[in-house]
Amino acid sequence: MKVLIVGSGGREHVLAWKIRQSPLVKELYCAPGNDGIAEVAQCVDIQADDIEGLVRFAKDKHIGLTVVGPEGPLVAGMVDAFEEEGLKIFGPKRQAAQLEASKVFAKEFMQTYNIPTASFKIFDRAEDARDFLAIAPFPVVVKADGLAAGKGVMICNDLKEAKEAVKQIMDQKIFKEAGARVVIEECLVGEEASILAICDGKNYIILDSSQDHKRIFDDDLGPNTGGMGAYSPAPVITEELFRKIGIQIIDPAIRGMYKEGIPFKGVLYAGLMITDEGPFVLEFNVRLGDPESQAILPRMRNDLVEVMLASCEGRLDKVKMEWDKRSCVCVVMSSGGYPGKHETGKEITGLNKIHDKNTMIFHAGTKKTGDKIMTAGGRVLGVTSLGDNIEKAMERAYHAVETIKFDRCFFRRDIGAKALKHIHPVSHAARR
Ligand code: AMP
Ligand code: GLY
Repeated sequence: MKVLIVGSGGREHVLAWKIRQSPLVKELYCAPGNDGIAEVAQCVDIQADDIEGLVRFAKDKHIGLTVVGPEGPLVAGMVDAFEEEGLKIFGPKRQAAQLEASKVFAKEFMQTYNIPTASFKIFDRAEDARDFLAIAPFPVVVKADGLAAGKGVMICNDLKEAKEAVKQIMDQKIFKEAGARVVIEECLVGEEASILAICDGKNYIILDSSQDHKRIFDDDLGPNTGGMGAYSPAPVITEELFRKIGIQIIDPAIRGMYKEGIPFKGVLYAGLMITDEGPFVLEFNVRLGDPESQAILPRMRNDLVEVMLASCEGRLDKVKMEWDKRSCVCVVMSSGGYPGKHETGKEITGLNKIHDKNTMIFHAGTKKTGDKIMTAGGRVLGVTSLGDNIEKAMERAYHAVETIKFDRCFFRRDIGAKALKHIHPVSHAARR
């Protein structure tokens, strides 16, 4: 079979690495891909949002399965366009992708189906939002309704900050139409974790847990980023919590979408806050997480192509997942200054010194110039290691990170540290 992956980041690199291992796959393409992905797939010069161009390519090449990485093309209707042409594609249709594209849709959906989430109010007029803020208990979280490249969520500690957030989103329209409506919600306290499920509209399988590290600096300080690292499994998700998340969140979400007449196929990603009162949904995404997928997929023993075909064909009830029991840690190496202004075009050295079969280097933003690999984005590499336990995986990943060099390279030094807190609560407490 010929498989096409759509996208160009670290998530698409781990997808290509995993899909390449499938005996079902004869040819693997990635559009547009990157120079790391080019080592395992043939990169095609078509942008991820060029739906027409990708449909044409898939038809011409007789692609048997297309896998979409980022949310943009899903929200724009790529799955609808492929299916209209009789092409097999893994992911939700445009209407189902609203779970990520509209926070208003997601919150109202959760309310209807009793899925635990922060209490909230929706506003389409800035004056009404300000009137509510005048009587709201702080802190609150102000969220733009639509897609805002991960920047649409503002945690506000007092009235002044919240008014400023409403001003920026609704009056100054910094996210354009994505900010025509806002959600103002209760600020939850706890530890975050990600639970991803592969769904076929009716059936679903829940993948092992993971945890992202969204803030730029150690100890979750500084501004939000696309994600500075991840590990899997996340011990904050105990077996009991995992079951609870299935019963209280994933199951009602899949049943609810089916009932609404917009069955959900593809990856449903629940960003969770684990509070003293149990798990709450912070957000739904409709695709694999980045960098969570770099920590999850190396632990998956199943043939991912078989699982994705089962999703497309509505037979996930027959699939049984098998996991590598080891831990996996992904440390993101980024360009200094990210998520703000940063320079690119720096030579990356040391990549060829890594010969550890338990370490994979996934490229997020790199570019080959002659025989040199240069930085080409904010997030540059996802250095990913498997280990018998989280400590071993961290040790391997950080050893590789120290071997790789580029000018003004930045990475967090505490990816995995929160897992240790759950495993060794006493010794960790003693260290602090
Ligand atoms: P979102 O894009 O909705 O996941 O929000 C991005 C980040 O904002 C989350 O990963 C959380 O760290 C934080 N966040 C969002 N909603 C809340 C909330 N209700 N309470 C506390 N933190 C939140
Ligand atoms: N890791 C966060 C995301 O993929 O949205």
